[in-house]
Amino acid sequence: MYLFKRVDQLREFLNGARTNNRTVGFVPTMGALHDGHLSLIKRSLAENQVTVASIFVNPTQFNEASDLDKYPRTPGKDLEKLAKVGCTVAFLPEVSDMYPEDLDTSLSIDFSPLDETMEGQERPGHFAGVAQVVKRLLDIVTPEYLYMGQKDFQQQLIVRDMTRQLSINTTVVTVPTVRETDGLAMSSRNVRLTDDHRQRATVLHQTLLSAKEKLAAGESPSAIENWAMQALQIPGFRPEYFTIVNADTLTPLPDTEDLPKRIVACTAVWASEVRLIDNMLLRGQL
Ligand code: PAJ
Repeated sequence: MYLFKRVDQLREFLNGARTNNRTVGFVPTMGALHDGHLSLIKRSLAENQVTVASIFVNPTQFNEASDLDKYPRTPGKDLEKLAKVGCTVAFLPEVSDMYPEDLDTSLSIDFSPLDETMEGQERPGHFAGVAQVVKRLLDIVTPEYLYMGQKDFQQQLIVRDMTRQLSINTTVVTVPTVRETDGLAMSSRNVRLTDDHRQRATVLHQTLLSAKEKLAAGESPSAIENWAMQALQIPGFRPEYFTIVNADTLTPLPDTEDLPKRIVACTAVWASEVRLIDNMLLRGQL
C-alpha cells in the first residue's frame, strides 16, 4: 500500500496510475476505521483498479470544538487495516495542505431542502463543512467513483446533490450500513458507550425495524414517529429526532395513501454523552 501525506505527491502518483482505462475509486473517511468503513473500501477494490482511502478529521464540519477534540484518532491501527484489505493508497493530509491560506476552498451551495432537517437542523454548518472537504478531496483525487455509507443517509444525498450541482464527473455509490451482530450500526463513536448503554443501544435498530413493519401495516407516518420517540425513551437514552421522510428529497410525507416510492426513517439518539444516528429504508431500495 502507498501512503501519501502531501497533495502533490498523491496527484503525481495518480497521474501515473491512471492509464489504460484504469478507474479510481475513492473512500473519504475520518479514520478510527471499523468494518463499516472497510466495506466501502472492499466495494471500491472490487469495482476499480485503484482505491484511494483518505483519513482526515475535518475541522470545518464539527460544530462543537469539544466533539472535534474527542474524535478518536488511531492512525497506526487504521493503516494496518487498510493494508490488510489491500487498499491501494492511503492519503493522510495535514490541515494546512487541505486548506492552504493561498487557496480559496470556500464553497457556497444551496442544498435546500436536503440540509434543512435532521442533522442539518441539529448541527448548524455541519453539511457546509462536509461539502467543502469532499469537494476539495474530489478536486485532488478526481475519482471515477466515490463511495459513501448509507449510515449517514443525509450526507450521501447532499454529496450526490453537490456533484450534480457542480457537474463533478464522479459517480456516487451508496453502500449499505454494516451492523454489529445485535443490529447496532457500526460507528467510531460506539467505543465511547458504557457497557450498559452499548447493550441497550440496539433500541435504535429495533425501533427502525418496527417502524418498517408498522408502515407496511398501514399506520400513518406521523403516528409511527410519535410511537418511535416513546420507544426510544429508555433509561439513559434521549431521542433527538425520529423522522420519516421521502428518501430522495427528505421532505415530509403526506398523511395519505399516496406514498412516495422510497421512504426512509432517520433517527438521532443521545446515549448519555454519545450521540448515535441510524436510518432504514422503510420502502424502496438503496
Ligand atoms: P466517517 O464518519 O469516517 O465515515 C466515512 C464513511 O464511512 C462515510 O461515507 C460513512 O457513511 C461510512 N460509514 C460509517 N459507518 C458505516 C457503517 N456502519 N456502514 C457503512 N458505512 C459506514 O462521514 C465521514 O467520515 C465524513 O463526514 C467525511 C465524508 C469523510 C467528510 O469528512
